[in-house]
Amino acid sequence: MDRRNFIKNTAITAAGIAILGSAAGLTNNKIIGDKKMNILVITGSPHKKGTSALLADEFIKGAQEKGHKVFRFDAAFEELHPCIACEVCKTGDKKCIYKDGMEKLNPKLFEADVVVFVTPLYYFGFSSQIKMAIDRFHANNHKIINTNKKAMLIATSAAANDWTMEGLVTNYNNILSFLGWENSGILLATGCPVREVIEKTEFPKKAYELGKNL
Ligand SMILES: Cc1cc2nc3c(=O)[nH]c(=O)nc-3n(C[C@H](O)[C@H](O)[C@H](O)COP(=O)(O)O)c2cc1C
Repeated sequence: MDRRNFIKNTAITAAGIAILGSAAGLTNNKIIGDKKMNILVITGSPHKKGTSALLADEFIKGAQEKGHKVFRFDAAFEELHPCIACEVCKTGDKKCIYKDGMEKLNPKLFEADVVVFVTPLYYFGFSSQIKMAIDRFHANNHKIINTNKKAMLIATSAAANDWTMEGLVTNYNNILSFLGWENSGILLATGCPVREVIEKTEFPKKAYELGKNL
């Protein structure tokens, strides 16, 4: 599949929400039903009032109005260490050597029905702040792989080329394939460098609807 078709088949960027199934390509938005769920929202921006924080706020508002229980973990404001690949976590029943913000995140990760990754685009991928938390999933792969979880991706970027989000979406899809989680929705807010710009777009409303339709 060439680059243009890749993006066409996986995302409607400037236009709004893009939804793709974990393996089957483009699908309709999945309404998960009336079940009240535990939703874990992991954000990755150091801007408390930035573009992606606004979309996280709106998504959470929608999800809470629907009655879901939401836990928000702002990775940029937690004490987190990058995984150093010591693999101590893989020996016996030893845990990660770091006692940090992951101790708060992990119980929520284990109980989550849906994990929502909210990130600004940094060099065509996740921000390092959120990626640090994702890498630390490594210590608990055995507890989260094939656990019937769903995931969502919400991202903002300054640029709005048809390939701008390609690397991020591929990374997200590969993470889901590895973990055996099902994609439940992707919102790619391209062309939004700052808050004043994104506030004038449909993206905040789309984020709200994504939460409300869960
Ligand atoms: C370190 C860094 C890297 C960035 N890389 C990209 C990029 O690769 N592509 C892009 O379109 N925008 C890039 N941007 C712009 C941000 O994605 C954009 O401003 C976004 O809206 C910021 O979100 P926030 O307000 O939630 O932090 C980058 C910004 C920073 C600070």
